[in-house]
Amino acid sequence: MTQDELKALVGQAALQYVTPGDIVGVGTGSTVNKFIDALATMKDQIPGAVSSSVASTARLKALGIPVFEANEVAELSVYIDGADEIDAQGHMIKGGGAALTREKIVAAQSRRFICIADESKMVKALGAFPLPVEVIPMATARLIRQFAALGGKAHLRLKDGAPLVTDNGQHILDVTGLQITDPLAFESEVNQWPGVVTVGVFAHQKASVCLLGTNSGVKTLTF
Ligand code: 5RP
Repeated sequence: MTQDELKALVGQAALQYVTPGDIVGVGTGSTVNKFIDALATMKDQIPGAVSSSVASTARLKALGIPVFEANEVAELSVYIDGADEIDAQGHMIKGGGAALTREKIVAAQSRRFICIADESKMVKALGAFPLPVEVIPMATARLIRQFAALGGKAHLRLKDGAPLVTDNGQHILDVTGLQITDPLAFESEVNQWPGVVTVGVFAHQKASVCLLGTNSGVKTLTF
């Protein structure tokens, strides 16, 4: 199966975690796009979704799925999103699509995080994928130095030759060369550096379940 077919497989499998009558939290990315397409088949059974990005909101609305603001609803039963890396404990790196801040907000508002990923995303230890960090632009140079002190090399993410601007009006640093041996401690530390909006380690908001797309079908990992 191609990577695209594996993404479609887990996007479809995630429907089993959507409870009729409940608003569903929806992530961002190419895997989630497959889930959104599948979700459209049960749009008459749910009030709608809370979305983690402008892009997912547009796709949900285009398919006739109502979108609620996070502030309009209380706790969500489930949040469904992809990952750039996931380890055997359910810790993840996210933010390849620059939506990490809203993703973490909706994940924190949800009882369960269902991660949907193809098997290339499963890793022994987090850190091979460049770690996305959303930052306040005036702090960029200092944060690059702070990551260098940890042995990391941070690059400002560009789009069409200019700094990428997130849905929140901020910038993204992508950091390579980090050894993330203790994801919880790492997330806590970097989160309190002034100028960091969100670090793309999801350890405090880790996955509850991962639906992993493999050539022999969908594997369900529970954490
Ligand atoms: C977006 C994300 C995505 O979930 C992550 O990048 C995985 O994306 P894809 O499903 O396209 O591989 O964190 O900010």
